[in-house]
Amino acid sequence: MPTVKEILETMDYGPAPESASEVMAWLKDRDDFGHFIDGGFTKPGDGFATENPATGEVLAKVTQGSAQDIEAAVKAARRAAPKWAGLSGHERAKYLYAIARHLQKRARFLAVLETLDNGKPIRESRDIDIPLAIRHFYHHAGWAELVAEEFPNHAPHGVCGQIIPWNFPLLMLAWKVAPALAAGNTVVLKPAEYTPLTALAFAEICAEIGLPKGVVNIVTGDGATGAALVDAEVDKIAFTGSTEVGRIIRRATAGTGKALTLELGGKSPFIVFPDADLDAAVEGVVDAIWFNQGQVCCAGSRILVSEAVAQEFTARLTARLHKLRVGDPLDKCTDMGAIVHPTQLARIRELVSQGEAAGATLVQPETQLPAKGSFFAPGLLTGAEPANPASVEEIFGPVATLTTFRTPAEAVQLANTTRYGLSASIWSENVTLAMDIAAQVKAGVVWINCTNQFDAGAGFGGMRESGFGREGGREGMLAYLKTPEPKAKPEAKAPDFAAQPSPDTPSTATIDRTPKLYIGGKQARPDSGQSYTIAVKGRELGLAPLGSRKDIRNAVEAAHKAGGWGKQTGHNRAQVLYYIAENLAARAGEFAARLKEAGHDPKEAEATVQRAFYYAAWADKLDGAVKSTQSAKVTVAMNEPWGVMGIACPDAAPLLGFASLVLPAIAMGNRVIAVPAQSMPLMATDLYQVFDTSDLPGGVVNIVTGPRDELAKTLAQHDDVAAMWYCGGPEGRAMVEAESAGNLKATWVMENRDWAQAQGRAFLTRATQIKTIWVPYGE
Ligand code: NAI
Repeated sequence: MPTVKEILETMDYGPAPESASEVMAWLKDRDDFGHFIDGGFTKPGDGFATENPATGEVLAKVTQGSAQDIEAAVKAARRAAPKWAGLSGHERAKYLYAIARHLQKRARFLAVLETLDNGKPIRESRDIDIPLAIRHFYHHAGWAELVAEEFPNHAPHGVCGQIIPWNFPLLMLAWKVAPALAAGNTVVLKPAEYTPLTALAFAEICAEIGLPKGVVNIVTGDGATGAALVDAEVDKIAFTGSTEVGRIIRRATAGTGKALTLELGGKSPFIVFPDADLDAAVEGVVDAIWFNQGQVCCAGSRILVSEAVAQEFTARLTARLHKLRVGDPLDKCTDMGAIVHPTQLARIRELVSQGEAAGATLVQPETQLPAKGSFFAPGLLTGAEPANPASVEEIFGPVATLTTFRTPAEAVQLANTTRYGLSASIWSENVTLAMDIAAQVKAGVVWINCTNQFDAGAGFGGMRESGFGREGGREGMLAYLKTPEPKAKPEAKAPDFAAQPSPDTPSTATIDRTPKLYIGGKQARPDSGQSYTIAVKGRELGLAPLGSRKDIRNAVEAAHKAGGWGKQTGHNRAQVLYYIAENLAARAGEFAARLKEAGHDPKEAEATVQRAFYYAAWADKLDGAVKSTQSAKVTVAMNEPWGVMGIACPDAAPLLGFASLVLPAIAMGNRVIAVPAQSMPLMATDLYQVFDTSDLPGGVVNIVTGPRDELAKTLAQHDDVAAMWYCGGPEGRAMVEAESAGNLKATWVMENRDWAQAQGRAFLTRATQIKTIWVPYGE
């Protein structure tokens, strides 16, 4: 015990440990845990120990969930589903309120349990994790109350399988369970193997409040248990974890019809401009990367600082770094606790030494780390080039790289030099600059002059390889509801075709009738130099170009060059769409005749004109929202186009099907590579004249005809295609979902439908993704 004199000299905080006795008694009472299935705990089976990472001591033993356990849990959830979904929203809301209240009552207990199991400082579990988890249940109790009114005609998916990581165990559970239950789903949740305890305490709360049995089931275990859940008879999988496992799950669910949302890794930029409040930005770094030992998917782990202030900023940051207190997570004065597991500690060490080997310098305080447990001192890797592994790989530990930039354009370029797109933090007192950069960074969440802000009312989720789908707020509810889908209309299989050499352009002819693709606003010969015959009932109607991988690649390149389209105002895009509508109207008779000749409904032509007017009307009306989150923070949800989209159109309605998919996509600012109906692509290729005369910039719509599924596969595999829509049979749908796993592009696969009815807001929301921007005001 230091003397008062000593304390006054050092001004050191004394230890202020939170008592773990209540939690230890609770653990002792239980000893081994079984799963929570159908409202009760199963007998504990073979399993593994969960340890306190700060000491290495065993806290409890949990059961390794087998495929049979998963099956039993899914069956219980299935049995409970109809009754739970059949309750009024108000009835479900009461259960969610009760859960929130009970969590609140046991908040301190849960905070200590979380800290013991995960190693995070008690200050974080007490002030962040648990309050946010509680807020989530209250917020979603509200959604349960309002679901029928706010989401008319929507239905729950049924049984949801949910797999969560170890970095925010109870909070991740809340993010997943609360909206699922509010929407009327039942769940089977698998917590992470390192941190299952708060989920098991949560199970007790479910039992305590009398939640109907089977509505929430919790099965503990490792990745194999998770994989069994993915394969089980569930209707939706919601996963948070590594990008690598996200990819495995994307492939495993492809073609199964299971809905999927993925919240994956990140390598988020933290951008400091010369006019930033540097002290605030330094504290921002503390939150962004040293908070939770850097074990945060949205950690601002790449600090990009303007050269003009780099020296000053680094000096202040290093000074702050040396003052961080690393140690006992239960001590209320601790800034940084333990790393969740020795495996994770080894991974951090490995990546940091790779970073050093590749030329970066590690700045780390001479902190005395506790002798026992998994600890890693906070660090900065300076001079890490963009290609350095430490700049590229997610370290998932308390180490950030620090690099400089000269201009805002360079900052954006560096920020976007990553395959991830989860979050970004931007520091500047100039709101014009900050918003400009926020619009340009590829990230699902952007914090201006703040970082790591979360709220149940705001969407959270990534772009690119950080996954798809949003958690929180209205968009999070939508992830647990089925949008009404029109009835499927079976489609005849497109006839096989034989390729043949394309006729050469007659050198003297005034009109070139060689079949052409439409790429970058120009007609282009297919790379194959070949065509195929379009015939109806044995009668030849013409030749279509035989597109190939190479043509798709060219089209993607052309689409990327047309990036200006997404930056235009909705009004300007509307003008072009109106123009398309008018030009189509002028030629509607001609299109109708062609459709008739090809054995299709000539009414498609008129309907296509109407569709163009319809999406012109929408081009400037899909509003975003200002979310109700924290005081003194504007939280904006902005709709952004995906960028470059691939669209494989239905064979059934060669003109209207094409228009119904391509028009909403471009109305929202996307550029499209469309593969039209294989059996009758000429309707679409004929549109090039309409596009040309309507001032549609080259590259916004690119048309590649040929074997639809082969071309769709190339699009699904293409890393520079951000989203993919596919209409076709089950094999094609499975193929597109599986092949899109490479860059984890968002997909929408659909059966053929009645295209006369196929328009509406759903097409527009599918053509956009939400970027949430947080802007604090006041102090
Ligand atoms: P992980 O992705 O392996 O584990 C996350 C969850 O998925 C756990 O519950 C795990 O049991 C389960 N799982 C593992 N393999 C599975 C499979 N084949 N099928 C279904 N479920 C499976 O992540 P891990 O190993 O815990 O951490 C590795 C890296 O992942 C970290 O270093 C970090 O980079 C990243 N990560 C990202 C998180 C995020 O919030 N985005 C959270 C945790 C980890």
